[in-house]
Amino acid sequence: MTVTAIVGAQWGDEGKGRIVDYLAQRAEMVIRFQGGDNAGHTVVNEHGTFRLHLVPSGIFNPTTRCIIGAGAVVNPDTLLEEMAELARAGISLDNLWLSERAQVVMPYHRLLDGLEESARGGQQIGTTKRGIGPAYADKAARTGIRLGDLTRPYYLAGRLAQALPQKNLTLQHFGQPPLVLDDIVAQATAWSETLGPRIVDTLPMVRDAVRSGQKVLLEGQLGVMRDLDWGTYPYVTSSNPIAGGAGAGAGLPPSVISDVVGVVKADCTAVGAGPFPTELTDEVGAQLRQVGQEYGATTGRPRRCGWLDGVALPYATWLNGFTALAITKLDVLDELAELKICTGYRLDGQVVQRVPDTPDYERCEPIYETWAGWQTSTRAARSWRDLPWQAQAYLRRIEALAGVPIRYISVGPEREQLVVI
Ligand code: GDP
Ligand code: IMO
Ligand code: MG
Repeated sequence: MTVTAIVGAQWGDEGKGRIVDYLAQRAEMVIRFQGGDNAGHTVVNEHGTFRLHLVPSGIFNPTTRCIIGAGAVVNPDTLLEEMAELARAGISLDNLWLSERAQVVMPYHRLLDGLEESARGGQQIGTTKRGIGPAYADKAARTGIRLGDLTRPYYLAGRLAQALPQKNLTLQHFGQPPLVLDDIVAQATAWSETLGPRIVDTLPMVRDAVRSGQKVLLEGQLGVMRDLDWGTYPYVTSSNPIAGGAGAGAGLPPSVISDVVGVVKADCTAVGAGPFPTELTDEVGAQLRQVGQEYGATTGRPRRCGWLDGVALPYATWLNGFTALAITKLDVLDELAELKICTGYRLDGQVVQRVPDTPDYERCEPIYETWAGWQTSTRAARSWRDLPWQAQAYLRRIEALAGVPIRYISVGPEREQLVVI
């Protein structure tokens, strides 16, 4: 288990932060490989409760080097706020490093995310409005600003002078006042003064860690069903949270990734628009939301809740190459008399066992099998045999559907509320 990717197997918020925090106790390096402050990775440990947006979830182990990789998009303002919050809680940031190749989420990206969402009218994606899509769009258009540019004022001024007129035209189109180049340069200079010493070429660090056999964790943001290529496009994020994105985003060859842990919520939730076939809009869905405290860690929006999707799960296994699963929030199901798992979809009168493209996916109706609930608390379980037989049967079914063994079962938000198999 030298290089392990920890990725979301559903629609996001599976509990990746919680699993990374646990594993980072014995890891030398954690790299966030994509996404930005759209992430809300909740960590509950002896230092308190934290909702991390950009800082890798390994930050609580003072000996773990934490890197924000080239594949990420970084809003320096939110990063600085998050760092200040961690520092106030007594968490050392000495080991936090930022790739000079990571993109900067500029003030205009955030503005445009909100304006573009409004312009979508009834077809909103439900983005987090953190500027993620516009920042990745500029990256692909090669007009992006990178963190390293902040440390080279002359170069930065030239890049901004090229990018800003286009942005101002777009802002003008939305009836917004233009941004002033000098103000943005001044802002960028302030960022470089505070973040500059952490902005480095992270590749030699990563290469040396891997070559010397150190334990490296690759922390994904979001889940496969919001992947830019394989998720429910256009209701997706603008990067690749699947394990295939990890090598490119972290700066290592895919062949060195020895383990891929798929994080799976024992039920399923989604924030934002788009197809989610097992969504429950009844009182069971409301109960899952209430018991699981399912509110977006970044936007506070109520999460859409539903049953585990046993068709989307093997899709996630294939796309990521899971070598193990981490099941989270088993305890959220404790009170239910019965549970359902989706094992197929009905699409235009046919039964299908694949994840179709979005326009078809929107018409899919779930086909369920029913499982007995256990109606007893699992929160104190620390070994497999502590779990009620109904919970064991439910978990075995998830393993069979995914075709991957379960290695971790989380029965509460706290670090030690975990069964390790
Ligand atoms: P992430 O984005 O994948 O890191 O997940 P989030 O942090 O957005 O959402 C997971 C939520 O579930 C957080 O509020 C966690 O504290 C909480 N959580 C994680 N694991 C468990 C668990 O096993 N049981 C319960 N009850 N809550 C959990
Ligand atoms: P973590 O890392 C849940 C969703 C948004 C929207 C879509 C695109 O905590 O799992 P974006 O702002 O990325 O352009 O929004 O993706 N989304 C998330 N949903 N958890 C997240 O992060 C999310 N990050 C983005 O709701 O549907
Ligand atoms: Mg989250």
